[in-house]
Amino acid sequence: MQTVTSRNALRATIAHWRAGGQRVAFVPTMGNLHAGHLRLVEHARQVADRVVVSIFVNPLQFGPEEDFASYPRTPEADSLHLAEMDVDLLFAPPVEEMYPDGAASATRVEVAGLSEILCGAVRPGHFAGVATIVTKLLNLVQPEVAIFGEKDYQQLAVIRRMAADLFLPVHIAGVPTVREPDGLAMSSRNHYLAPAERESAPALYAALRHAAGRIAAGAPDWEGIEAEGLEWLRRAGFRPDYFVVRSAPDLDPPTPQCAELVVLAAGTLGRTRLIDNVTVALNERV
Ligand code: PAF
Repeated sequence: MQTVTSRNALRATIAHWRAGGQRVAFVPTMGNLHAGHLRLVEHARQVADRVVVSIFVNPLQFGPEEDFASYPRTPEADSLHLAEMDVDLLFAPPVEEMYPDGAASATRVEVAGLSEILCGAVRPGHFAGVATIVTKLLNLVQPEVAIFGEKDYQQLAVIRRMAADLFLPVHIAGVPTVREPDGLAMSSRNHYLAPAERESAPALYAALRHAAGRIAAGAPDWEGIEAEGLEWLRRAGFRPDYFVVRSAPDLDPPTPQCAELVVLAAGTLGRTRLIDNVTVALNERV
């Protein structure tokens, strides 16, 4: 595996592959890789000749009170995992390489509406930070396919919308969430959980599955399902941000015409904010 830290070196290597007609798949990450990330890399390996992974903890997507400084950084272990998975190129730029003008960097990519609800309401500016860095990375790598985890469901929806609105010539692929045996979605932030919180954390997925089961069984009462979900999280010790039923592709409020719904929830346990979701295809209704 080749590792590069500059935009020029990244472009030069990819240009060489392109001259040979090779397809490129790209997995953007913030590092501290776990089995969920490695599943994204496996998918990339299956759909392209060359796999590029980036590791960049993007300051623009963290709020002033958030964990940018303490976000886990494990570059040596990450590099070993990626080399074992036959990744062709790791792009690990310093902050100055992605934001040469520093805080004065003027351009932001904003996906209005979708970025302001749910996690966007709790973390103002977060999705503009994500959309901006993903646009920059896609412009540098110019992959045929870019791969993201479905755990960050709203992020995936924002990126899909951005790619469609800006006519970006890339297929955005979503890969299902990888879970611990007790159902907790894998996340770099799970390491922040104290032992008692770690025991309570699977309640998030349990509440989502319960809600999805009620929807699949034909319960039409979204508000009742949402209220029950919030109560479930509170009983498990969470401070919930939201527990909602939405239309799956666009996160609009559901209508009787929706073919697929998604139940999304977020909440904080101690100092750790967790998010998760479960989709329900309405032909799954029993
Ligand atoms: O999901 C992540 O790890 C980040 O939000 C991403 C997509 C790499 C952008 O920084």
